[in-house]
Amino acid sequence: MFITFEGIDLSGKSTQARLLYDKLVKNRKKVILVREPGGTLISEKIRKILLDKENSKMKYITEFLLFSASRHQLTEEIIKPSLKKNYIVICDRYYDSSTAYQGYGGKIDLSIIKQVNRIATNNLVPDLSFLIDIDYSENIRRRELSGKSHDRIEQKEKNYYKKVISGYRTLAEIDKKRFRIIDGKKEIDNIHKEITGIINKTKK
Ligand code: ADP
Ligand code: TYD
Repeated sequence: MFITFEGIDLSGKSTQARLLYDKLVKNRKKVILVREPGGTLISEKIRKILLDKENSKMKYITEFLLFSASRHQLTEEIIKPSLKKNYIVICDRYYDSSTAYQGYGGKIDLSIIKQVNRIATNNLVPDLSFLIDIDYSENIRRRELSGKSHDRIEQKEKNYYKKVISGYRTLAEIDKKRFRIIDGKKEIDNIHKEITGIINKTKK
């Protein structure tokens, strides 16, 4: 089973992916947890380039192709071989992140994103994708809590995040079979229980 976690920054993806991983390990399941961008030696190097503040000149197509390159490497090196060996694979972000951020939030045509996503993943589609949904004000609240907030969030950034949030919701609406929308403002433990409940129901 291939499970992905999606949502905007600070929505709680990593927290939930980790809780699920720990629970499955405790239940003696064969499971791996990976994250995007990253998860392999090459992909982690690409991650560093993507997140490096010095790379302010990076063009948005460069950025998209780097995310996709990292994804392809992770898919071929880790995800597919693990699924073949009957591991449950949990991935913290996958190609829906590119659709939401670079497509709905950015300037790249959705049809191009779809095409490149297919190449990057070799048509691999998650069995189940959790959209951990929080609104913009909750994102700001958590940013302030983590001390990473600026006094004045630029309007451009606000619009961008709002587009990413609604893009994710659209994606989940389009593909109801694969997506489950989770209210990310609920308590961490309650979300975890909701997620394990859904997985138990959906087991292949
Ligand atoms: P992401 O991986 O989506 O960026 P994290 O799991 O790293 O998010 O969580 C971001 C921050 O929000 C952390 O400080 C975490 O403790 C907090 N957090 C996660 N889930 C919740 C929740 N359900 N309610 C309140 N705070 C949460
Ligand atoms: P990360 O540390 O994984 O984010 P998070 O705060 O969610 O834990 O950083 C990844 C950043 O890259 C995040 O802002 C989302 C963005 N991103 C894209 O724009 N497109 C993508 O395809 C992926 C995988 C991530």
